[in-house]
Amino acid sequence: MHLSRRRLLHGSAGMAAVTLAGCSGGEESGSSLTGFTGIAMPTKTSDRWVIEGGFLEDQLHEPGYETILEYGDDDPEKQISQIQGMVDQGVEFLIIGAIDNRSLGEVLAHAKDKGVMIISYDRLILDTPDVDYYASFDNYQVGVLQAKHILDRLGISEDGAEGPFNVEIFSGSSDDSNSQYFFQGGLDTLERYTYSGIIRIPSEQTEQEQTATERWSGPLAMERMAGLLDEFYEDRHLDAVLSPYDGISRGVIRALEDFGLVPGTDEFPVITGQDAEALSIKFIRDDLGQTQTVFKDTRDLAAVASGMVKSIVNGDDPEVNDLGTYNNGFKFVPSYLLEPVSIDKNNWEEELIGSEYLTMEDIDNAVEPQDF
Ligand code: GAL
Repeated sequence: MHLSRRRLLHGSAGMAAVTLAGCSGGEESGSSLTGFTGIAMPTKTSDRWVIEGGFLEDQLHEPGYETILEYGDDDPEKQISQIQGMVDQGVEFLIIGAIDNRSLGEVLAHAKDKGVMIISYDRLILDTPDVDYYASFDNYQVGVLQAKHILDRLGISEDGAEGPFNVEIFSGSSDDSNSQYFFQGGLDTLERYTYSGIIRIPSEQTEQEQTATERWSGPLAMERMAGLLDEFYEDRHLDAVLSPYDGISRGVIRALEDFGLVPGTDEFPVITGQDAEALSIKFIRDDLGQTQTVFKDTRDLAAVASGMVKSIVNGDDPEVNDLGTYNNGFKFVPSYLLEPVSIDKNNWEEELIGSEYLTMEDIDNAVEPQDF
């Protein structure tokens, strides 16, 4: 699969928000399919899904396919009825960023009865045989990159370290299968240092369910961090927070500020994140608390998922690069996984501005998408 950013950017220019009706996508293709695709995205509270909905539409409109794009507002029932609505309107493909990975079995069974091809987008849909392909990133590696940033910043290496350092751990929504991969990648990377005592976790909250943040909510993360600070940090220094997602990181930062800690000073902990959201890049750039994020180039992810649709319409098999990692409870789902990139103060400009993923104005004008 050829993933040229330049081609993608140019290909999408001027096509935003147009839903092409009655186009002849299938006429020159190797199948009788027209490419009609339903795109079910989970939420608008995180920038990435808003941007990706647009990318997916642009890329599917390019060859003339019709699309329906809907957002489930983090409400699993709403997403189910949106998907059912798309099936009723005759979509041939579904690209789904699930809200609750275990709630879609019934509606996908209806979709399969009508012959719909189902692509699980970024988040793996569980407990159903009716998922055909998975397009995502190497989710375990995301957690590894976050933990490695903490080790680097605290000066911990295989050769030794000062320490002990106090670290707290946050994980993602427990109904999102990605959470366990991020969590495991992070914990596996820190493990030898927690065993040796170089890293301590004063709360002793090290299980995924104890550290989960439902629906990836910043306000919930803020609440949990405030509780941890009151209980364990009255007379201790917190050195780092392993946070799996930028919205959670910003909730953590608010709690730290309320506790009296000042971002940009030595007393403020190292804080990781994920998604390279514009506001978090501003925090990294301007020393406002967050020190790292993980960039997942969602243009490439949208290209992979829309490329799967295009291949099938053209009568070809979609390209996959992993057949044995993502078991959804019924089968290993054929997957195409992309590589995530760690971002900090040293490389944000080159990676994000240089690749035109963000502009300086995006960063300057970024505001919090969640209510605190
Ligand atoms: C995950 C996704 C992350 C982040 C998070 C919150 O499923 O992989 O990149 O976006 O959801 O939206």
